[in-house]
Amino acid sequence: MSNSEQNSTIEALFVEERRFPPTEEFKAQANVASESIYAEGKDFENFWRAQASRIQWQTPFKETLDWSDAPFAKWFVGGRLNITESALDVHAKSTPDKVAYYFEGENGDTRVVTYKDLYHEVCKFANALSDLGISKGDRVAIYMGMVPEFPVALLACARLGAPHSVIFGGFSSDSLKDRIIDASAKALITCDESWRNGGRVPLKETADVALSETPSVEHVVVVQRTGAQVKMVEGRDHYYHELIKDADDERPAESMDSEDPLFILYTSGTTARPKGIVHSTGGYAVGVATTHSMVFDIKEDDIYWCTADVGWVTGHSYVVYGPLINGVSSVLFEGVPQFPDKDRYWDIVEKYKVTQLYTAPTSIRTFMKWGTEYVTKHDLSSLRVIGTVGEPINPEAWMWYHEYVGNSRCPIVDTWWQTETGHMMIAPLPGVTTTKPGSATIPLPGINVEVVDQNGNPVPKGSGGYLVITQPWPGMARTIFNDPQRFKDVYWSRFSKPSENKWVYFAGDGAKKDLDGYIWLLGRVDDVMNVSGHRISTLEVESALVDHPAVAEAAVVGREDPTTGQAIAAFVTLKGANQGNEELIAELREHVAQKIGKIARPASIVFTDELPKTRSGKIMRRLLRDISEKRQLGDVTTLANADVVKEIAEQAAKAA
Ligand code: WTA
Repeated sequence: MSNSEQNSTIEALFVEERRFPPTEEFKAQANVASESIYAEGKDFENFWRAQASRIQWQTPFKETLDWSDAPFAKWFVGGRLNITESALDVHAKSTPDKVAYYFEGENGDTRVVTYKDLYHEVCKFANALSDLGISKGDRVAIYMGMVPEFPVALLACARLGAPHSVIFGGFSSDSLKDRIIDASAKALITCDESWRNGGRVPLKETADVALSETPSVEHVVVVQRTGAQVKMVEGRDHYYHELIKDADDERPAESMDSEDPLFILYTSGTTARPKGIVHSTGGYAVGVATTHSMVFDIKEDDIYWCTADVGWVTGHSYVVYGPLINGVSSVLFEGVPQFPDKDRYWDIVEKYKVTQLYTAPTSIRTFMKWGTEYVTKHDLSSLRVIGTVGEPINPEAWMWYHEYVGNSRCPIVDTWWQTETGHMMIAPLPGVTTTKPGSATIPLPGINVEVVDQNGNPVPKGSGGYLVITQPWPGMARTIFNDPQRFKDVYWSRFSKPSENKWVYFAGDGAKKDLDGYIWLLGRVDDVMNVSGHRISTLEVESALVDHPAVAEAAVVGREDPTTGQAIAAFVTLKGANQGNEELIAELREHVAQKIGKIARPASIVFTDELPKTRSGKIMRRLLRDISEKRQLGDVTTLANADVVKEIAEQAAKAA
């Protein structure tokens, strides 16, 4: 966002005076109830060394952190483990009949998966994958809907030491193809279809299109979900249920070095090419287990529900690894909040007596729009802690969540983190930290963040700037797959001083530090949009638009949207005689959906003869954002083609 926007946002946030300290009742039972934890966290290496006992180590580590090759970190050096032993074996032994997942399917079908069931299912599938030739170090792509076999697929890969690369099931065949090729995945695990919002998502059919151009994939495993007839290629494609039918239900876990990669997850950046974020095993395991337990105040009898899709990092860390390592019972949910009716979430909370709910601000804003009656008709008294992730939550949505979902009683944990950080970084501890509506509060113990100005100097309290992380943390991304230089350039170049051996991670977010030192996230400062909590690069959408034969040039900006946070606004110039009309708008939106996925479909498209450019030829996105958000236009004196702005504003007004 521009400076003036950022300043006005900061001003607006200054007036937030409401404070919510933990209640005595909550404090009395909290896992972490003493402020002293923050002091302990100051010695971050010692803090994390102590947390490492949450994990099963086959061989103890010798050194907590090796930062000598910064910014490439090594955590728990020399330690050996397999993350599935912490997630499965321990619990299958101590609490075999405890439920790992209550699966709640979109059509109301349910399955109960105990820790023992999950353990054996994972072993079986690991054996089946091994029989197909998958072994340690091979990359396996996963493109699935939310069924119990989804976590099973991740865990089976982890059991073998084969890094998984999950591609969200809403992505297009092109997106899937690019990611499979980048990781040269040897196998793909998918479903015939998945259920979503009363309809079917043709996963296998979409995968088949990608697979025609991905020679690295030798085997495809298909989980039957809807039972649809799908094309099965002889020798390449196998049904999951047939593969595991006779597979052995025991499988020793591959011994992994703490630093061996656990998974790759692609995320959008400021270029059109997604980055394969690589996470390693030991540090990630410790990071997700610690944060999940502390921030959600996890207890043995809890029923925890994170609504995220396993296709995103939130699903990896807080549907699969964190909750399983902590041995909690979770709800695994397939579907959408509005199907079969708008009280679907609250129905589930009541049915399972959910104790922790973790969801996204965009959903909360949608619930607000639908009205309180859907919430109030259900008994939500089981809830103890409620959380949010993915984007800033505006204070009014926070208050609504507090009042109607949390019954003015549950602490709200607004958790800031990223695909790259692996686990939560800024969030309250519900038994300790006083919350303020709209602020993610302060960094977790063992984490150090700062808000800096453009020269990298910490801003005074009460000012805004760029959010940076100033010391390494266990779950941090280790690199970008096959591109360590890009890892350095993107995250570690802007504010680091390598000559002084000072390494500072730049998150790409703007933030404000208030007078109490609380952090208020203000959104991305780069060309990444945040639509319903999903990161989409402006360049990626522009490339998809320009890929259409009628389009000469395109500029894309995120404009503020009351429900989705940001909405994608596109400005397009056409080639030659092409006419910009309703049909073409529909066609272009569909084209982007085809190229990237439905989540990237522009909300609005405006045709224009020219795009506003600086004299050096750069598109002035700031102006386009002003137009999209109907603001007084900023400075246009640097424009080469100043007249065009007026014309675009008129077009945009007509289109609105
Ligand atoms: C944004 C999702 C404000 C932020 C876990 C970040 C947030 C990006 C919050 C990462 C929050 C995430 N408050 N903004 N609590 N949580 N973000 O990689 O812009 O999908 O950089 O990871 O989401 O998105 P990602």
